[in-house]
Formats: sequence, structure tokens, C-alpha cells
Amino acid sequence: MLTVTNLVYTDSLHDVSLDHLTGLFAHWGSPPAPEAILRIFQGSGRVILARDGQKGPVIGYITAITDGVSTAYIPHLEVRAEWQGQGIGSELVRQMVEQLNHIYAIDLMCDPELQPFYAKQGFRAWTGMLIRNYDRQSCA
Ligand SMILES: CC(C)(COP(=O)(O)OP(=O)(O)OC[C@H]1O[C@@H](n2cnc3c(N)ncnc32)[C@H](O)[C@@H]1OP(=O)(O)O)[C@@H](O)C(=O)NCCC(=O)NCCS
Repeated sequence: MLTVTNLVYTDSLHDVSLDHLTGLFAHWGSPPAPEAILRIFQGSGRVILARDGQKGPVIGYITAITDGVSTAYIPHLEVRAEWQGQGIGSELVRQMVEQLNHIYAIDLMCDPELQPFYAKQGFRAWTGMLIRNYDRQSCA
């Protein structure tokens, strides 16, 4: 496990280079390339990054898309494996919920084993429906 001595949380994409994004989406079978990851961040209504220093590599992120009035959806959350288990994921969720908590609905989809993680942040289990075009997963 790596410990971050200079952990920075930011909603700015300033100074994020493609090198900083390499290796993210490691939990996806066909991860997007860094160029696509940057487009995902740029296209999200909200993004919070955890960085190793103000201009350092991105070690974690959370994104949200929202109409700003009624509903927000959190599609992406990840902390690089070497930095997991230190509360970074919880802090990213906490900060995003704090930003969105004036909105009626904050929704996300997750695997059952992650439900206790989100429950600690105030989420409750529900049911959902989805379409996944797996041939589009790499976002190429
Ligand atoms: C989920 C994830 C973001 C958590 O990040 P993290 O920085 O390790 O989280 P924290 O250190 O804040 O962990 C908080 C708690 O969640 C638990 N937890 C974390 N990941 C878990 C997982 N995959 N399954 C079950 N529990 C998990 C931890 O054990 C910890 O529990 P504790 O408080 O009882 O000790 C990280 O494991 C990750 O990036 N996973 C791969 C991507 C992913 O699954 N993203 C979520 C998509 S819905």
C-alpha cells in the first residue's frame, strides 16, 4: 500500500495530463484510453479528483452528471489499487454528496458487495434497470 503525503482533493482539471490518467478504470474489462478518460471527466457535470500533490498523478476520482434541479447520477468512482483502504474513496463520495445534497435524487449503481460502503455515506439499496453496450466499453 502507498500512503499519500500530499493528498489533494480538487474539482479542477487544470494541469491534468494524459500521463496522470494512465492505468485508471482498472476495474473495467476494456478500460478507456487516457484521452477518453479526460473526455469523460470534461463531459461530466461534476468531477472531484484525488491527486498526489497539486499537479501530481490522479489516484482517485468521482464523477456526477446532473440536471442541477431534480436528479444527479454518480457513474464513476475509483481509487487506484495501491492507495485503496485509506479512506480516499469514502472522502470522494462524501465530498460529491455534499456538493449534490440540495438535489432531490442522487442515484448510482453498484455491485451488492459495495452496498455497505455506500450505506455508510447515507445511500440505501434500491432496484435498477440498465443497458450495457459492452462493445462500446473502451469508449474508443
Ligand atoms: C470502491 C473504492 C472506490 C473504495 O475506495 P477506498 O479508498 O479503498 O475506500 P475506503 O478506504 O474509503 O474504504 C471504506 C470501506 O469500504 C470497504 N470497501 C472498499 N472497497 C470495497 C469493495 N470492493 N468491496 C467491499 N468493500 C469495500 C472497505 O473495506 C472499507 O470498509 P471499512 O470502513 O469497514 O474498513 C475502491 O475499492 C475501488 O476503486 N474499487 C474499484 C472500482 C469500483 O468498484 N468502483 C465503484 C463502482 S460502483
